[in-house]
Amino acid sequence: MSLYAIGDLHLNFMVERNMNQYGEVWKNHEKKVEKYWKKRVLEEDTVVVTGDHTMGKKMAEVTADLDFIANLPGRKILLRGNHDMFWKTKKTPALNEAYEGKLSFLQNNFFTYEDYALVGTKGYCFEGKDSYEHFLTIREREMERLNRSFQLARDAGFQKFLMFLHFPPTSVGEQSSPFTELAKEQGVEKVIYSHCHGEMHFQDSFLGDVDGIEYVLVSGDYLRFRPERILE
Ligand SMILES: [Fe+2]
Ligand SMILES: [Fe+2]
Repeated sequence: MSLYAIGDLHLNFMVERNMNQYGEVWKNHEKKVEKYWKKRVLEEDTVVVTGDHTMGKKMAEVTADLDFIANLPGRKILLRGNHDMFWKTKKTPALNEAYEGKLSFLQNNFFTYEDYALVGTKGYCFEGKDSYEHFLTIREREMERLNRSFQLARDAGFQKFLMFLHFPPTSVGEQSSPFTELAKEQGVEKVIYSHCHGEMHFQDSFLGDVDGIEYVLVSGDYLRFRPERILE
């Protein structure tokens, strides 16, 4: 039994929008996702899919993408990415109900893998696309959600944590952030994130061991669409 992660599948079974402008790696990428996922992941495994599942915006434009993920092997836990506009803030319980037994949606809650609590939220970093004040507001809200996820896991008696974010845990150039500080405070073993696309962005945040925490980038194109094993 293993735990895997991969993010940024950016599926587009129902809309014309695609990722082809971002390079060769995106050509027929859904076929690569399916091929490598089926080669690696067994039915008894768990895969955390770290957001940007779809290029569709409304629920009616994403159901085929969600079904594609649901039909792949293993238990699937989904995180919310910046592209996942179908996943309205208050909709998490309704999504968990609608996809019960097929997909689990991680926000303001937590899931488990053996004796680990899988906690997480979308996260946020400053990319210069909004004002710094707006960035701080969003980051604060994401920190509240992440704290809630940790609190619920602690209340349930968990002491071992893996922390999942869609956005990188730090903005470019930062040595720390509220997310990395919280990971240290909570004794997190690994921080797993995605969102970074293209060679130019693979080094945007932490990779490997930093202060005793392992930082793992799992964006689809970085992994060439091979799910990354996080735990045996
Ligand atoms: Fe993405
Ligand atoms: Fe993203």
